[in-house]
This record gives sequence, C-alpha cells and structure tokens, in this order.
Amino acid sequence: MIQQINAITPLEEARAALADAFELKFTKAVEKATQPVFDKVKDRIPEIEWPFYAPLIFEINRLKKKKNAAILAHNYQTPQIYYGVADIVGDSLQLAIEATRVEADTIVQCGVHFMAETSKMLNPEKTVLIPDSRAGCSLASSITAEDVLAMRAQYPGVPVVTYVNSSAAVKAVTDVCCTSSNALEIVEAVEGDTVLMIPDQYLAQNTAKKTKKKIITWAGACEVHETFTADDIAELRAAYPGAKIIAHPECPPEVIDNVDFAGSTSGMIDWIKTQKPPKVVMVTECSMSDNVAAETEGVSFLRGCNICPHMKRINLENVLWSLHTGTEEVTIPEELIEPARASVERMIEISTRKKH
Ligand code: 13P
Ligand code: SF4
Repeated sequence: MIQQINAITPLEEARAALADAFELKFTKAVEKATQPVFDKVKDRIPEIEWPFYAPLIFEINRLKKKKNAAILAHNYQTPQIYYGVADIVGDSLQLAIEATRVEADTIVQCGVHFMAETSKMLNPEKTVLIPDSRAGCSLASSITAEDVLAMRAQYPGVPVVTYVNSSAAVKAVTDVCCTSSNALEIVEAVEGDTVLMIPDQYLAQNTAKKTKKKIITWAGACEVHETFTADDIAELRAAYPGAKIIAHPECPPEVIDNVDFAGSTSGMIDWIKTQKPPKVVMVTECSMSDNVAAETEGVSFLRGCNICPHMKRINLENVLWSLHTGTEEVTIPEELIEPARASVERMIEISTRKKH
C-alpha cells in the first residue's frame, strides 16, 4: 500500500491505490454529471482522454461535498482542475481575499505551497491541505527570515514590502505583503521615500519604473518568467504579425518594456476579455492560455509560454487522494501565524480600501 500519491507516482500505481476506494469508471452517470465541464474544455482536452479525467472529477466533487471542503485553485492550474473541481479560481490576491471568506471546514489548495500557507494563516482553525507539499516556488525559496532581518539591520526604519510568493517565516518579519496586481499601490501606501521590496528583483524593477520612491530589492526571480528575453518578444512579433503580446510582471524589464500589456494572472485574463484581441500571446505559464481560451470566443491564443513545474505537481489523482486521506496538512508554527497574517491582512486592507 503506498502512503502518498504525488506528481511522480506512476499513473498505474496512483490509480491502483485510488481503485481501492473509488470505482473510477466512466459510467453513463459520470459522463452526464461531467458533461458541462467537458463542454468547456473540449477544445483543450482530447476527447480520448476524457474517460480518464471524468471519473476523478466526479469523485472529487462528491467527496468535496461530503467532507465540507472547498477547492481554491490558482489560474496556472490545468483546465481539468480549473474548470472541473475548483470552487474558487484567481490570482494570488484574489485567492488570499477569498480565503478569508471560505465557510467550508477544509480548504484544498490547488497551487503552490506559499498559497496554501497564506490560506492557513488566514484560517488557522481550518484544515488546509495541499495535494503535494513539494509544490514550491523559486521566489519563496530564494530568501529566509534571517536574510530579511539582515536587510532590516542594514536599512533601519525602511519598510519591508514582501511579495506573497514567500514563506510564512518571511511574511512574519515583513511590514506588508504585495502581489503583482497591487505592487505599486502597496509601495505608494507605505511610509517614507525608500522601500525594501523583496524577493522578486524583476517585480521590484518593474514597479520602480512607476514610482518616485527608491526601491531596494533582493536577487530572487521566478524560474518560469526570468528566462524570457527581449529577443523572444522580437521573435514572437516577427512570427505572429499583428498579435498582441502580454506578460506577467515577474518577467525582466526588457520584456515588460516591449509588450502590449503587463499584469497579474487575473489582470491578463481581464485584459483579454475586455480588449478581445484577434490574436494574443501570453508570456507566462502555459495553462493560462488554455483556461482563458475555454471562455473567450474570437481570440486565437498563440504559444509563447513556459511550464511551472511546481504548479504542475498538482493533478486530479493527488487532489482526490488528498481529500480521501486528509493529506498533506499545511501547518505553520504557532508563533509565526499572527505576524505573518498581519502582513497579508495589511495588504488586503490597502487593496480593498474604498477608492475616493
Ligand atoms: P499572480 O498573483 O499574478 O497570480 O502570480 C502568482 C505567480 O506565482 C505568478 O508566477
Ligand atoms: Fe513561483 Fe514562478 Fe511558479 Fe509562480 S510561476 S509559482 S513565481 S516558480
């Protein structure tokens, strides 16, 4: 009997373990119940694969109700998770805000570990599960609380604005968090004319171009976005004349300076839905195009993306396993919960303040 199903569990082994508890057959009832999901994703998922996904989706949704659980999924999750089983989808800010409103007893986070930690610190009394706790993030692992304390000692009195892509320990020694959708707003909201903006050097550099404040940063980067270059954008423009090119602000400034729009994952989705460009390239994680394409008619999505290996650790098999076994539970040391939560709550308070 295997103890855990995760991203590297061979499919037959995972299915054998799940078969002990679930039928996982593509019956008429399963086909009917999952038809609305298939209608959404049929241009993204080959019909021949659907009989494998549908029974998992069916069981996850059944178990979710039985266990009073809610699934929070990031925009980078696969279409079968995003459209099949998620109760709430969004960018990091939306997921954090929604985490404060969840009524279910259990949250299953389909995203990376720092997102699950954020849900936990906002809901210390709830059970928060992540289907594979190794779903990390190169930004979160680039900096420790000790590094932040050393920066604070070097720059006494300078406020620390930390990207939510960070550990609970780092958030606990932070003044206020930010996400890619509110970075400028948060930098402008903190006191003083100098800000320590960590750990993403590129988000910091891209934000620095829009504020008069002096920004001091850290050498962290997103392994998915840091590889894009200005030459890539030039090549995309040559390959796809007339296509709009949009990117995430974790890309280096040389990329952001050459695209038609830059924004958080949800910012990009909203931009496409309102602008409806005939052709678009999303310079970000690959599932984004699949998810937006499934609900945007008249827009052709051209490829110019990278895969986040951490986000892709989450799959239907380990989501079902997680709900079935109550693993892997996310915990945060008691003494970190309050200070880490305060940094996230300050961010939410600034972001949701009524604008006059
Ligand atoms: P968003 O807040 O834009 O969803 O970004 C999260 C992330 O990890 C992007 O790489
Ligand atoms: Fe982290 Fe980059 Fe993956 Fe987002 S895409 S979770 S920033 S490694």
